[in-house]
Amino acid sequence: MSTSAGGKVELLNGISGLPLIKLRTQWSEAEVYLHGAHVTGFQKHDEEPLLFLSKESRFAEGQAIRGGVPVIFPWFGPKEGKAQHGFARVTTWELKETATAPEGAVSARLELPKCPEMTSFQPCKVQFIVTVGAALAMELAVTNESPREMFAFENCLHSYFEISDISAISIKGLKGAEYQDKTDGFVRRTEERDKIKISSEVDRVYLNTTQAVEILDPGFGRKIVVEKEASLSTVVWNPWTEKARQMADFGDEEYKRMVCVESGNVGENQIQLPPGETSRLRVTISSTRV
Ligand code: BG6
Repeated sequence: MSTSAGGKVELLNGISGLPLIKLRTQWSEAEVYLHGAHVTGFQKHDEEPLLFLSKESRFAEGQAIRGGVPVIFPWFGPKEGKAQHGFARVTTWELKETATAPEGAVSARLELPKCPEMTSFQPCKVQFIVTVGAALAMELAVTNESPREMFAFENCLHSYFEISDISAISIKGLKGAEYQDKTDGFVRRTEERDKIKISSEVDRVYLNTTQAVEILDPGFGRKIVVEKEASLSTVVWNPWTEKARQMADFGDEEYKRMVCVESGNVGENQIQLPPGETSRLRVTISSTRV
């Protein structure tokens, strides 16, 4: 489709014939499905994949892809009578534009179409911009198009990271943050640890967190850094053994190779967007050898 300084963007048929954007740069490669505006892969040329994608994932209309970066909007978690985590991740988005920067990064801009779920919602415009270079940068931009009404919604970029082994990694950057433990009736606790280790099911919403989070992975000799803007919540999730077995689109042993560190605004951090304004959730994921 377009090229510059080694940067290339192509629109192809992906798994099950679903439309797929491939972005290639001098540093990295990425894949984005129009289904869910879902980044399913990002890999630097000399590294293991950065994003985990389940071998059991479905690639089908109406079903969420398991892995990569699901775009969660306009609600997070369950909602009575509706699909968990909102409709954005199971809607086919429109590719509006691709661009190449002179220094070699490439980007794609997608828009959520006015699907029935959208039109029954408050009037809004929702765009997702993925920029691929040495890092993966994503922006979810929501504009409240109502002339009068506030727009209350949740959003989240639900990143699944590929790791060497869950027992080897630690997560840094959340010390002192208050969290709700979803595995224990949403009880509120304060994170005491500088480095979080995972050895059982973890499902926590860390509130009022703005700082970067690091995933230290000595097995891969890699540090992943998740930086964010306009995000107050960080969700850390690993299903562990029992939940892994219950999920039809996830391998029984795959919990060992993934961890989710999600950036967004959920629960009491949900966004209240005034008429005419735009909220821009930005997440940049980079990695270095350690
Ligand atoms: C996390 C939630 O963000 O997503 C978990 O905190 C949930 O509670 C997980 O289990 C996966 O959700 P889903 O709908 O993709 O299976």
